[in-house]
This record gives sequence, C-alpha cells and structure tokens, in this order.
Amino acid sequence: MNLRVFDDAEDLAHAAARTILQSGAKTIGVTGGSTPKRLYEILSQSLPQNVTWVLVDERYVPMSDPQSNAAMIERTLFARGVPKRWLCFNTALSDPAATARLFEEDWRSLGIEALDLVLLGCGDDGHTASLFPGTPVLGVEDRISSEVFVPRLEQWRVTLTLPVLRAAKLRMVLATGAAKANVIHEVREGAQHPVALATGGLESWWLVDRAAVPPE
Ligand code: 6PG
Repeated sequence: MNLRVFDDAEDLAHAAARTILQSGAKTIGVTGGSTPKRLYEILSQSLPQNVTWVLVDERYVPMSDPQSNAAMIERTLFARGVPKRWLCFNTALSDPAATARLFEEDWRSLGIEALDLVLLGCGDDGHTASLFPGTPVLGVEDRISSEVFVPRLEQWRVTLTLPVLRAAKLRMVLATGAAKANVIHEVREGAQHPVALATGGLESWWLVDRAAVPPE
C-alpha cells in the first residue's frame, strides 16, 4: 500500500491540492463525503482550467438536500463558478436507473475514455464511492455507472463502477481520523473490501493523516 502520512487533515488537504495541480490531469473524478471538503476549498482558489470534472458517486437526494455530493462540490470546489465540463448525476429524474443511464450517455458525449485521476474516500466498512460491501453493484462489469440500493443506509445511490475506478490512471484515497485506522489496517493486511478492489494492484496513493495510520 502506497501510504503518504501527513501531520493533520489541513496538511493533507494542501498536499492533495498541490498534487492535483501538478498532475496536469485533464479528466478528474471527484468524490463526495466530508474528507475532501477542505481540499476542494483550497483548490477552488486556483482551479485548474480545461478540466472535465466527473462526480464519483451521489446519494439519491435532490440537489437542495444537505446530503447532495454535487451541491457540496459546487459550494466548495466550484465556488467561483461551475465549469462547463462538469458531469454529475441528475437526481431530479427520481429514477436511479434512468439517472445512471443518462450519466453514461453524457460520459460518452463528453468523449471521456478514462479518468486521469480519481479522488476517493473510504468508509469504515471498507466502501469507496457507493460501492458498499455485499451490494450487487460490485459485480457490475459492463457499465460506466450504476444505481445501487444500500440496505445499511436504506438509501439509493448512483456510482461509478469498479472497472471505471480501476481504469483511471491514478487513484488518490483520502482518509483522516482514528475511525479509519482499522479499515486501512485491514486493507493493508489484504482484506478484499470494495476500496481494496478499486485500488489493489494499480497506481493508488493513500493520503492519510497521523490519526488514521494503522498500528504496526
Ligand atoms: C459518499 C462517498 C463515500 C465517502 C466515504 C468516506 O457519497 O458518501 O462518496 O464513498 O467518500 O463514505 O466519507 P467521509 O469522507 O465522510 O469519511
């Protein structure tokens, strides 16, 4: 596991922003969740131009809902204006399967072949994006995006699929806080959590703060 440890979440956010700016990536997958918010605020100050931004996953709620990943990203990363090439999930359709299909059509119309860089989070149950343990979406091999019902949350989600995350040139997993230490330890020991399936054997960097570093 390629683990990069930072003193705290603030250091991590600045380092991640620098890495993204220096990467020259032109197609970037952006995750929801709480961990990347600070990174997005920092990056919004010098948002790289001519980038196609792609949302990694979405909770199936309206944009006005505080849980909306797209709305969080528009408030932080795109605080100075939403770029032209921003592919997110249209939850206003009120039909998760139709939303995933429309996303795939938009992906193709934008001419996206693969993500240059994808930012990911990691749940304490080992999920990443909306690829939760034990859900059928983990077996989806022939789609760009898919709907998935997450029983644990009693919520529909839409998400990029495993093959798309694995086809990206680089994966950056962001994890902070002691609650993540156990799952990172398990992945390091070879547990086949979804986050391990999305990153294993590929160019994947784990950016973590000290609190999330698993015990030796
Ligand atoms: C989501 C995410 C999800 C997230 C992890 C980590 O929509 O919830 O995309 O995969 O990245 O749950 O979330 P935190 O950053 O809040 O710990």
